[in-house]
Order: sequence, then structure tokens, then C-alpha cells
Amino acid sequence: MKRNITLFGMLAVAGLLAGILEGCKGPEGPAGPPGETTVVNLEGFKEGINCGDCHNPDTDTTYYVWARKYQWELSKHFFGGDFERSQSTCGGCHTTEGFIEAASGKTVTTHVDASPPGCFACHSPHSRGDFSLRINEPVTLNETVAGSGTATFDYGKGNLCAQCHKPRTLSPLPDPTKTAATDTITITSNRWYPHYGVQSQMLMGTGGFRFADYTYTGNSNHTDNSVIKQEGCIACHMADATAGSGIAGGHTMNINYNENSYLLNGCTVSGCHTSSGFTVDYIGASASLSGGLGTHTATEAYMDTLHQLLLDREWITESGSINASSGSPLKIAPGAKAGALFNYLFIEHDLSKGSHNTRYALELLKSSIQELRKL
Ligand code: HEC
Ligand code: HEC
Ligand code: HEC
Ligand code: HEC
Ligand code: HEC
Repeated sequence: MKRNITLFGMLAVAGLLAGILEGCKGPEGPAGPPGETTVVNLEGFKEGINCGDCHNPDTDTTYYVWARKYQWELSKHFFGGDFERSQSTCGGCHTTEGFIEAASGKTVTTHVDASPPGCFACHSPHSRGDFSLRINEPVTLNETVAGSGTATFDYGKGNLCAQCHKPRTLSPLPDPTKTAATDTITITSNRWYPHYGVQSQMLMGTGGFRFADYTYTGNSNHTDNSVIKQEGCIACHMADATAGSGIAGGHTMNINYNENSYLLNGCTVSGCHTSSGFTVDYIGASASLSGGLGTHTATEAYMDTLHQLLLDREWITESGSINASSGSPLKIAPGAKAGALFNYLFIEHDLSKGSHNTRYALELLKSSIQELRKL
């Protein structure tokens, strides 16, 4: 039923558009007649475009547009619900309308009736007549630890993802040099973290808080892996599922599906992991750091320990929220100790349980735990 309504609606609109388009020569799209509502983001149709190439579920085995729609509806991009964050400060990442503005170098404006990150955010199928990626320039990641500087994320097609899955700003920045007893950091918000999209930082091994007296040994293979350098996030998150095996990967962008199943096809491509016996809780080169445990098990165990240490100091509440507000700020001295709280939230928000960069995550956790165990 839904299918019929959508198709009918589409054909009706398509008829209207075709009418409008008759007078349109260039690829720029028509400017509305004076006095009519301006469609700010209409990028127009590529000349000679064949609507049926994509809008024809009967024969579309070129693009499988319908299949991609159903996959996308299983992604958090569709169902996450946060697309009401449609004001100008948020819509650049939370809405298609805002993202198109951001990606085309315009000022992001508020769109009350915005839609979640969808087909036209990541692609521009009408203006280009294909599904090439709207943008894949390297992305500058904000400085989130004092003295660390900005970083350039350059992982090929994954640059698209990092346009949104990147840190926002943070104040005050945690500072590893503030180790004197008199150096106090004052945290006035329970959202003292650079937002949620830290996966780009985690993958490239930046943005975590490094304590001055701990020796960090670097990153796991993923950071410099040649496949991941080209495909970025999509190497793992958009791998094709095996026919008949469940709906993950592709435009669902999910690795975990049906509760406890994992799509690992992206992990076991040639040159990476061998499929026999491989699980998401992989024990790899960081086994000495994980005490021989799998990545997820070890990361979660260290997170539990760190959670308890932060609770003991009353820096967080049971639910993991920071115990701070403007009326009742959290003061930590020496300020550098706040790095343990910062790392906890960084690893929590990465959500991969160490998979993105096991070595980096585990060393940040171990050093944070060590710091809080000092008197
Ligand atoms: C390269 C692929 C492609 C081509 C070619 C294409 N479209 Fe689309 N179009 C899409 C995608 C993807 C969507 C968004 C998903 C959807 O609603 O089907 C879309 C959406 C639409 C919508 C909105 C549908 C809705 O439910 O909101 C209309 C109307 C539309 N297209 C008309 C056209 C017309 C008219 C043409 C030919 C001039 C055309 N399209 C050619 C890919 C294409
Ligand atoms: C237009 C901005 C944007 C782009 C581009 C983007 N994302 Fe997202 N992504 C989001 C937002 C916003 C959410 C959370 C949606 C919500 O909560 O409503 C999200 C959620 C997700 C989630 C689910 C996270 C969870 O908490 O379960 C995954 C996985 C994901 N994105 C992967 C990707 C990958 C892989 C790419 C690149 C192919 C990508 N995203 C590109 C904005 C974006
Ligand atoms: C730089 C891009 C970007 C901007 C700007 C941005 N967000 Fe987000 N936000 C994201 C991404 C990406 C996610 C999803 C991360 C994930 O789940 O992995 C997200 C997730 C969220 C979530 C869901 C958190 C959760 O735990 O499920 C909320 C709420 C949110 N953002 C609110 C906002 C608000 C409010 C603003 C504006 C003040 C804003 N965001 C601006 C990228 C952004
Ligand atoms: C969050 C970003 C994102 C969203 C949203 C998104 N796509 Fe994609 N899409 C991608 C990426 C990344 C690829 C992989 C490109 C590659 O491998 O070169 C891709 C690939 C495709 C392809 C294959 C292109 C080819 O040439 O083989 C099609 C078709 C496609 N998308 C259609 C859609 C449709 C239809 C929607 C909406 C339902 C959609 N996409 C939404 C990011 C996105
Ligand atoms: C080497 C493979 C790989 C790469 C590359 C990768 N991820 Fe992941 N990602 C994973 C695995 C494995 C998980 C854990 C899945 C789980 O446990 O649900 C994960 C989890 C996530 C989650 C939480 C999703 C959820 O449903 O729990 C998000 C969001 C995410 N990744 C985004 C990204 C982004 C954005 C990039 C690129 C900057 C990226 N990932 C690169 C493998 C990868």
C-alpha cells in the first residue's frame, strides 16, 4: 500500500516537475517566478536524464534504488529521530537540507521541516544523474585537547562520513600540561565533550587525552591499512551482506544486526583478516594490552573499571552523565586529571568498543585508570 502511494505521489510530482522543466535549459535548475516560494536547495536535473533509470522498481537492477531505500530505513540515519535538531547550529549534520548547504559552502540555515540525512545528502542523483558521492574532500577535525592541534582526516570515500562524524568544539579544552596541584579545570556543563561523532578521530588515532607520564605506542592496523585509507568507514560499515544471511551493511550501515549477529564481510576481504574463526571480539596484535581478551570484552571491562573510579570521585552519575552544571560546576585539580573523564566519554561515544582502533582505545583507558588510581 505504502509503495503505491509513494509511487503515485512521485509520478504526480514528476509530472509537475516535467512541466516546470520544459523551459529549463541548463543544469542549474529553474529560479522560481517572482513572488513564489524559493526552493533554496533545488539543484536541478542533469540534461537528458532518464527518470526511469532510477524510478522504475520493475527493472532497476542497475542501482537497486528501492533496495537502498529499504536498507536506509534500517539505518539510524533514517530512524534516529534527531533530525528535529534542524536549527542552523545543528542542521548541517542532522538534516539533508542543512548538509547540502554546508557541503556547497553556503551558510546553514534553520529548516523547521527538515528531513534526516538521506539520499540527497550523500548523493545528488538528479543534478548528476548518478550516485557519486556529493563530497569527499579531506575533513579538518577540531582540536579537542589543548596543544594537539587540528587534524586532517583523509580516508577516501570515508571523508563523506567524517563531514558529520567529526567533533564539534569544546570549552574548556582538557590540558595535559596542567599537572600542578594549583591548576584547576572548571567544568560547567554535563555535556563536556566534543559531541558524539568522534569515530573519525578514533580511527585515525587523534583526539584522545594523552597523560604526560604514560608511554603510548600508537595505533592498531586500521589507522594505516591501505584498504581503509581508500574506503574509510564504508569498508566495514557498507560491505555487502551475503545473500540470504540477514540485513546489515550496505545502506543500513550497521555491522551489528538481529541483536547478536555481526556482518564481518568487510573485515575478511583479501589482505585483511582470514574469515575462519574471526569474530567481532577479535584478539589481535593488542593481545598484550587486552590481557589476551577480545577487543570488545577488554574495552568494556576497562570502561567498567574507569566508570567505577569516576563514580567514586563523583565526577559522573550512575548513568554516566557528568556531574556538572553552570550553577554547580565540577572543579578538578590538577586539571590534567580531567583527561580520564574526557577519555571515558570519548571511548563511550565512539561506540565501537575498541574495534576502530583497539591499541589507541586500550592505552587511553589504561592510562586513565592509572591516573585515577594515583592518590
Ligand atoms: C540517478 C537516479 C535518479 C534519476 C535518473 C532520477 N531520480 Fe528522482 N530520485 C532519485 C532518488 C534516489 C530519489 C529519492 C528516493 C525516492 O524517493 O525514490 C528521488 C526522488 C524523486 C522525487 C521525490 C519523490 C518523493 O517521494 O518525494 C521526484 C518527484 C523525482 N525523484 C523525480 C524525478 C524525475 C522527474 C526524474 C527525471 C527527470 C528523476 N527523478 C530522475 C533518483 C533519481
Ligand atoms: C549528513 C551527516 C552525516 C553523514 C554524511 C553520515 N552520517 Fe552517520 N549519522 C549522522 C547522524 C546525525 C546520526 C545520528 C542520527 C540520529 O540520531 O537521528 C548518524 C548515525 C550513524 C550511525 C548509527 C550510530 C548509532 O548510534 O547507532 C552509523 C553506524 C553511521 N551514522 C555511519 C555512517 C557512515 C558509515 C557514514 C558514511 C558512509 C555516515 N554515517 C555519514 C550523520 C551523518
Ligand atoms: C559536526 C556535525 C554535527 C553537528 C553540528 C551537530 N551534531 Fe549532533 N550528532 C552528530 C552525529 C554524527 C551524531 C551521531 C553520532 C553517533 O551516534 O555515532 C550526533 C548525535 C546527536 C544526538 C544523539 C545522541 C545520542 O546519544 O543518541 C543528539 C541529541 C544531538 N546529536 C544533538 C545535537 C544538537 C542539539 C546539535 C546543535 C546544537 C547538534 N547535535 C549538532 C553530528 C553533529
Ligand atoms: C550517509 C550517506 C549516504 C546516504 C544517506 C545514502 N547513500 Fe548511497 N552511497 C553512499 C556511499 C558511501 C556509497 C558507496 C560509494 C562507493 O562505493 O563508491 C553509496 C552508494 C550508493 C549506490 C551505488 C552507486 C554505484 O555507483 O554503485 C546507490 C545506487 C546508492 N548509494 C543509492 C542511495 C539511495 C537511493 C539512497 C537513499 C535511500 C542513498 N544512497 C543514501 C552513501 C550514502
Ligand atoms: C575496520 C572496520 C571499521 C571501520 C574502518 C570503521 N568502523 Fe565503525 N565500527 C566497526 C565495528 C566492528 C563496530 C562495532 C559494531 C558493534 O559492536 O555494533 C563499529 C561501530 C561503529 C558505530 C556504532 C554503531 C552501532 O550501531 O553501534 C558507529 C557510529 C561507527 N562505527 C561509525 C564509523 C565511522 C563514522 C567510521 C569512519 C570514520 C567507521 N565507523 C569506521 C568497524 C569499523
